[in-house]
Amino acid sequence: MITGNYPNLRLRRSRKNDWSRRLVQENSLSSSDFILPIFLIDGKNIKQSIKTMPDVYRYTIDKLGIIVDRAIKSKIPMVALFPYTNKTKKNEIGSEALNEDNLVCKAIRYIKKRYKNEIGIMCDVALDPYTSHGHDGLIKSGYVLNDETIEVLINQSLLQAEIGCDILAPSDMMDGRIGKIRKALDKEGHEMVQLLSYAVKYASSFYGPFRDAVGSKGLLKGDKKNYQMDFRNSNEAIREVALDIKEGADMVMVKPGMPYLDIIKTVKDNFKIPVLAYQVSGEYSLLSNSIKKGLIDKNSVLESLIAFKRAGANAIVSYYADRIEDLIK
Ligand code: PBG
Repeated sequence: MITGNYPNLRLRRSRKNDWSRRLVQENSLSSSDFILPIFLIDGKNIKQSIKTMPDVYRYTIDKLGIIVDRAIKSKIPMVALFPYTNKTKKNEIGSEALNEDNLVCKAIRYIKKRYKNEIGIMCDVALDPYTSHGHDGLIKSGYVLNDETIEVLINQSLLQAEIGCDILAPSDMMDGRIGKIRKALDKEGHEMVQLLSYAVKYASSFYGPFRDAVGSKGLLKGDKKNYQMDFRNSNEAIREVALDIKEGADMVMVKPGMPYLDIIKTVKDNFKIPVLAYQVSGEYSLLSNSIKKGLIDKNSVLESLIAFKRAGANAIVSYYADRIEDLIK
């Protein structure tokens, strides 16, 4: 594949000027590549900072306009909603997940009423924001039950679809949930609601700040290794994706992002379907804090995001999404 030799060939020729570098660039970013996560909190008139995530906030429903307006103005196609649930509303079985007036449901109603179809809404399907033990499903003797959890996830999915969620994103890693949720959605007339499967989700230390953001940090008993993937594995990721596609996933997510670029590429090379990357909270906080401390400059953000495109991701969930226009400039 080498097309010449030095000194006839000088790759630095195309790098000499900015216009030339732009001319031969292989990958680029635009706001259409992004999904913006939004954290929700109970109460009124609050935009609350999150200790572990600089410049990221929790919003009460009446303040959602601030951030959704910004997302729409920057032409971001979709927001992802995550609730900070008060301890008093959490229990062993995460029943708040099925409350039609929980924070996520309220936010879906608010956004759909105010913005119609100007922006898509994605919601996680998992119980961890709502359980007193911080796990994604129902627990028996320390083990997260698979089939019993799916039954609850089906109801959580139907509720969120009913209220107007556009894309359901099961992030729980139970076996077989995509097929069962798809079937239930179709049966109830929600055949146009999309499923974005967190097909490849590793048991990762990079989720720490997110757990702080949704208030499950101190609560988590043990770890999530009996359902999320072992970070030593990659073939297993292909099996997870293959199963979820068969079960009806429209898109798949790889998560975390930057330490798993090889997985994004493998998935994209093997399956020609939309692959999304999640630049998770730990990645965000590492970058943001290092930039704030002056250890690295802010272009590191753009560099980290382009890496996802290079690896083959169609879109990126990132806490930088609402600031991406400035970064690209
Ligand atoms: C919950 C969920 C998690 C994240 C998104 N959905 C955390 C977890 O599995 O513990 C993490 C996102 C982030 O770290 O930014 N199922």
